[in-house]
Amino acid sequence: MARQTENGHGLGQMPEDAGAIDRVLRERPLIVASNRGPVTCSLEDDGTFRARKGSGGVVTAVSSIAREHQPIWIAAAMTEGDRARAEVAARQGEHLIEFGRPPEFRLRFVVPAPEAYHQYYNVISNPLLWFLQHYLWDTPRSPDITHEIWTAWYDGYVAVNRLFADEIVATCERCETQPIVMLQDYHLYLCGGMVRERNPDAILQHFVHIPWPDPDYWRLLPMAMRRAICEGMLGNDIVGFQTPEHARSFMYTCEAYVDGAEIDYDRSAVRWNGRRIEVRAYPISIDANAVRRIAYSKEARSHDRYLPNHWNEFTILRVDRAEPSKNIVRGFQAFDRFLEAHREFQGRVNFVAITVPSRMDVPEYQDYLDDVSAAVGRINARYANVETGWQPIHLIMGENYPRALAAMKWYDVLLVNAIIDGMNLVAKEGALLNERNGVLILSEGAGAASQLGDNALIIAPADVEGTADAMHQALTMPLADRRRMAEGLRRAVEADDVADWFRQQIADLIRYASADEPDADHADASSPLASPIEPDVAVP
Ligand code: F6P
Repeated sequence: MARQTENGHGLGQMPEDAGAIDRVLRERPLIVASNRGPVTCSLEDDGTFRARKGSGGVVTAVSSIAREHQPIWIAAAMTEGDRARAEVAARQGEHLIEFGRPPEFRLRFVVPAPEAYHQYYNVISNPLLWFLQHYLWDTPRSPDITHEIWTAWYDGYVAVNRLFADEIVATCERCETQPIVMLQDYHLYLCGGMVRERNPDAILQHFVHIPWPDPDYWRLLPMAMRRAICEGMLGNDIVGFQTPEHARSFMYTCEAYVDGAEIDYDRSAVRWNGRRIEVRAYPISIDANAVRRIAYSKEARSHDRYLPNHWNEFTILRVDRAEPSKNIVRGFQAFDRFLEAHREFQGRVNFVAITVPSRMDVPEYQDYLDDVSAAVGRINARYANVETGWQPIHLIMGENYPRALAAMKWYDVLLVNAIIDGMNLVAKEGALLNERNGVLILSEGAGAASQLGDNALIIAPADVEGTADAMHQALTMPLADRRRMAEGLRRAVEADDVADWFRQQIADLIRYASADEPDADHADASSPLASPIEPDVAVP
């Protein structure tokens, strides 16, 4: 029987026998559960449905895996169109809704009542959990855990997690072999525990795409909530994070708040309720081929015709959702300071900000978008030159992935100054696509900093002056240095494909199942993954 691999920093090694992974994936259905699904449906006037691809880190990463492994994707019906499509499926006994021919995605919608969904998504997940996990609360003033929040917790977050768990359990029951279930992100923290209660043999893995703060900060949530979150997560076999630091914070949090949890920091595991839960780091990446394909597609090229209207002798680019954690306003303040301190650049440099409005039902996001627009207006009013027509900041609003990728080919500087970010895939997309030896200015708070930091200018996200200096340094850097750094970035991204992110998780599940532990309470022997791979996994 193969032994457990530990490498001290929480990152497992790929089993040498990649065939074992492929065989497990051939033999076992894969279920992915995430709040946002790969497509959003809308009902057209003629009564037909139109499906649009979803967006964001989770969808993009999992979609690239879906192409090869065709998971059953369980996602929330987020729009009226999704609900209507789910209703048609239920009426017609259509178990899985298939999109594309041949099917690219097979989906089951979870359909919460609109009010429950609102409480789960717009009150608890965003902003409460999102703000907490990105250290965004102005803690002397917020959050207030009011009666309304408690109601939203029970009637929204707990209720919708239960709907997801019901759907996962039912889907597992329909499968001939125990499937591999991969839960995604902060919307579904309770799911692992809920599924485990009803299906003790379930193979469960949960990946958290966003940071995991220290236990002290979790105290902003009442004990019952933070404990339920940790205990829900401990229903999984493996929990994964973007960085080893966040994985460690999770273990500290379990130690602080979960009664009876024993932490094995050396082996990166938690023992609780007679089970052993592994805690791992899987830095997410992009699908380099797919990103290149889209960036050079006909649609992206159509943007090449007018995007240059926004360029100047020098161009600084940023691409983000209008999201407080992305630190967009401070980025503009830094640009303001840069123009003030280096007047010779006035008229010669444009800051192009491609901004995607996001979570517009959440007041904090509406306010932030207002702050972004106000900062642009103020800085443009200060520097714009009526004679030459120069305007320093060009704000391009709206979601258009091919356009964003098209723009990345042209920047001289890419600004990624997030306050804190799980990974930040824009940094990786830009590094891959840029054709001008562009310099990456990267926040030390982004998970990407540990992988790309050697070839980027690293800034502290609140340091407006330091960010302005970095802009100057980037725009005056000798070509040879820019080329060396850009090549280093590109190589790092090319060597780190999202397929590895996925396969590493499956490899660790296989190891987990076949771990040879002396402890009687380790569930290895009964694990459904144990037997099929046992002969093949190399003993490290
Ligand atoms: O993990 C963060 C994430 O869930 C990513 O999928 C994406 O970047 C973003 O948040 C999308 O958020 P939403 O689904 O709320 O639009």
